[in-house]
Amino acid sequence: MNYLIAPSILSANFARLGEEVQNVLKAGADCIHFDVMDNHYVPNLTVGPVVCESLREEGIKAPIDVHLMVENVDSLTLAFAKAGASSITFHPEASKHIDRSLTLIRDQGLLAGLAFNPATPLHYLDYVADKIDIILIMSVNPGFGGQSFIPNSLQKIKEARHWLDTHHLNKVRLAVDGGVQLSNIATIAAAGANEFIAGSSIFQAKTDYQQTIAAFRAALNQLR
Ligand code: DX5
Ligand code: ZN
Repeated sequence: MNYLIAPSILSANFARLGEEVQNVLKAGADCIHFDVMDNHYVPNLTVGPVVCESLREEGIKAPIDVHLMVENVDSLTLAFAKAGASSITFHPEASKHIDRSLTLIRDQGLLAGLAFNPATPLHYLDYVADKIDIILIMSVNPGFGGQSFIPNSLQKIKEARHWLDTHHLNKVRLAVDGGVQLSNIATIAAAGANEFIAGSSIFQAKTDYQQTIAAFRAALNQLR
């Protein structure tokens, strides 16, 4: 299994964002998780396409995975595609036309993902199996960094892995977002996840980014 470590910039120092992103990539991160909140779909507000574009202008070449926690999915999809995003993942409840939103993302040449809140059922996947590249399981309620992993999420991850196996979709990424840290990353991987989105446990850690990411990889390597 090829495991991806995706630091979430939500817990980075936004005043020094370019440097933070460079540093975390140098420390071994695979991609950057870019949380977008609109204060409607979730009770918090973050950053938009101009910030993504600025990171590209700073010379960031790594994938920038946009996690849209917003109501107006389609208009932001177009803006983030122009701004240099690599993938766009949205919450099915937030889009009036899930199939159309997924198609629009792929039409821009980006990878498309669906994100599932802790109480959102996976059945949204059933009729769009051929249109998704990423399944993102939220293991906290979206809106804030630094929350605790909800244990029931492990069952959801197993169900998502089973769904992928049944549909022979082994190239689709199974990402987990919220409360991921050194003490639970191996358990999350054993449940079937292969992408680990981590904000506070990387950016707020006592160890430096390189040590934190190396420790994550060491925990994952023990599973192989
Ligand atoms: C929460 C965001 C997450 C958040 C995770 O709504 O989608 O990406 O940054 O933060 P941690 O890793 O601190 O739980
Ligand atoms: Zn996120």
